[in-house]
Amino acid sequence: MAGVTPPQRERFGSKFGVIAAAAGSAVGLGNIWKFPYEVGNNGGGAFLVLYLGFVLLIGIPVMISELAIGRNGQKNAIGSFRAISPKRPWFLVGIIGVAAAFMIFAFYGSVAGWTLEYIFQSAKNGFEGKTPDQLGSMFDNFVENPMRPLMWQTIFIVLTASVVMAGVKKGIEKYTKILMPVLFLIILVLIVRSVTLPGAGAGLEFLFKPDFSKINASVILSALGQAFFSLSLGMGTIITYGSYIRKNDNLAVTAIQVSTADTVIAIMAGIAIFPAVFAFGINPSQGEGLVFVTIPNIFQQMPGGYVFSLLFFILLAVAALTSTISLLEVIVAYFSEEYKISRKKATIYSSIVILFIGTLCTLSKGGPLTDFTIFGKNIWGFLEFVSADILLPLGGLCIVIFVGFFMGRKRVREELTNAGSIKGRLIPVAMFLVRYIAPIGIALVFLNAIGLLKFG
Ligand code: TRP
Repeated sequence: MAGVTPPQRERFGSKFGVIAAAAGSAVGLGNIWKFPYEVGNNGGGAFLVLYLGFVLLIGIPVMISELAIGRNGQKNAIGSFRAISPKRPWFLVGIIGVAAAFMIFAFYGSVAGWTLEYIFQSAKNGFEGKTPDQLGSMFDNFVENPMRPLMWQTIFIVLTASVVMAGVKKGIEKYTKILMPVLFLIILVLIVRSVTLPGAGAGLEFLFKPDFSKINASVILSALGQAFFSLSLGMGTIITYGSYIRKNDNLAVTAIQVSTADTVIAIMAGIAIFPAVFAFGINPSQGEGLVFVTIPNIFQQMPGGYVFSLLFFILLAVAALTSTISLLEVIVAYFSEEYKISRKKATIYSSIVILFIGTLCTLSKGGPLTDFTIFGKNIWGFLEFVSADILLPLGGLCIVIFVGFFMGRKRVREELTNAGSIKGRLIPVAMFLVRYIAPIGIALVFLNAIGLLKFG
């Protein structure tokens, strides 16, 4: 074997490219679709406070840990654990992660498909002149007749697969770098219109004035799950991307920048949505349709609404695409590296499985599988709950314990200080969060959720 050097692993080409790709993964439907409806379902401001606390004390340490594992292991989500700890079964954490990626992509692809329908509707001016009620039933009708949603979902999965096949640098980095900043600007425009609607104040109050009596065990679990989901943590996405990061990029700073960008966009989405929700008398806890009903209403009330609406849904689809790319990349990197099949084959086979599970999800939203339930939830609800609220935090728990206690101080230091070239006075703080605060925090939320422990 002497003299055979493995081909160079692909690398992100620039520092901004890394942040754009990781932020591209993090910023997606989780921020603009899921965050507002979770806030709406879970009572508003108090949920936001919990969410922010979890991002800071748990999300950022988990993200630093994932980056460190990936860059040190130089492999996919499973292979990196094996490379660092060949004798212990830590790679199982990666396997759970790959399973979670299939589950998340299944329902996520459905919602991503909705964004394509809304591009189409925007283009043909389909929201024109509709009342809030009519926009509501327009959404319901669309979702409950599954043929169109299935068509869009299929198109979306094919789109994702074609980018992933092209590879990391050419595919992922190129697009996110340009499109993320544009999305940010459009949300700003939406905010300006939303907060100047008559009656907008009630929405801001709902979002920012915490009513702590609304907090219970399930609200706490949802806030933690949302933090993991929105930051793309707990299933190896950031491990996989970490393996593509250059040796001289600062991991802790990257984690803080990505988390900040993600959180800012989620809050901005909230500021754009809730004033309008209250101004139009929409029910804030109506669930998955919230954004798809509210946003067209805002555009109706706006000069240039046609153009902005079209642009907004295009960018939402792109944001979703950069996230589904990262979900699929976890799966494809694993199968292509570990089983020595080509990137192309790995992409095609896994996309077929995703389309299959995704179809079941879509059919459970008002379609023929609506009444099929598992533990009282339909297929979609079950997969969303198990992946986001259980598997991701569980994966995160294992990840911080691994980095905190099993990866080896030397390796961890090497990654956090770039082999000694960064001073990093904050590293002890980061390590304290990784070793104690994050794991204890996640464990407490779980114990509370299953009723073994009671807060408040
Ligand atoms: N974070 C993305 C969003 O907010 C979704 C996502 C992409 C994700 N990759 C992930 C969620 C990995 C959990 C784990 O839309």
